[in-house]
Amino acid sequence: WSAVDKYNWSHLHAGNTKPDPDMLEKVLQSSTDGGLPPIAVSPAHGKFLQIQARLMGAKNIMEVGMLGGYSTIWLASSSPDAKVTSIEIDEDFAALAKKHFGWAGVEKQIEVKVGSAMSEMPKLVEEVKAGKREKIDLAFIDANKPNNLEYFNWCVEMARPGACIIIDNVVRMGRVVDPSAFEDPNVAGTRRAIEAIGKDSRVDATILQMVGDKSYDGFLTAIVKRDASGSSH
Ligand code: DHB
Ligand code: MG
Repeated sequence: WSAVDKYNWSHLHAGNTKPDPDMLEKVLQSSTDGGLPPIAVSPAHGKFLQIQARLMGAKNIMEVGMLGGYSTIWLASSSPDAKVTSIEIDEDFAALAKKHFGWAGVEKQIEVKVGSAMSEMPKLVEEVKAGKREKIDLAFIDANKPNNLEYFNWCVEMARPGACIIIDNVVRMGRVVDPSAFEDPNVAGTRRAIEAIGKDSRVDATILQMVGDKSYDGFLTAIVKRDASGSSH
C-alpha cells in the first residue's frame, strides 16, 4: 500500500504543484523530531482534503485536532481566500504547528484555538449563532475519537446548507466491526458517531474504506442537507 502511495505521489504531486513537496516533508520531519505521534494524514489524504475544499470553493474551514498542522496546511493551501479555524488541545503541538504555517506561508489564513474542543467548540457555535463568525463550508474532524459525535454535532450547528463534514479514522483496521474491540473507547466513540449520524435527518453520509500509508482506515464524509439549515433536532 505504501509503495503504491509513493508511486502515485511521485507522479501526481511533482514539479510545481502546491504546496511544495519538500516543505511538506520538512513539516513531517519536524513533527517527528518534535516528538509528535506519527498520525498526521498521509500526503494522499491531505491532497484529497485540499481538492475537496477546492471543489467546494470553501472559504470557512473548521479543523478539530490540529497536531503539527500538516492537514491544516493542506486545507489552507486550497485557496488564498480559505480561512481555517483549527483546535488543538496540546499547546506544544500548537506552537510547533504555528512554526510550520510560517514555512508554508499560510500563517495569516489560520486561526489557532488552543484548548479542548469540548470547551472551544461551544464558544464557536455561539459566535456563529450570534452572527460574529461565518458559517463553515467544510470541517475535518481528526481529534480524540470518544467525542467524535459531539464534534460532529457542533460542526453541523456551525455549517451552511450544503457544507461537508469529514471524520478521520472511522474504520481502524476493521476494528469498527470487531466485537472484541467494542470496549476500546476509540472504537466505541466511532461506532456511536456512525450510528447517530445515520439517524440524523440533517445530514447524509457515507464511509470510504481506504488503504495506504495510514494502513487500513477510512473517512466518513457527510453533507449537511440543503433543506435543513438551522434545524436543531
Ligand atoms: C490515531 C489517531 C489518528 O487520528 C490517526 O489518523 C491514526 C491513529 C491514534 O490515536 O492512534
Ligand atoms: Mg486521524
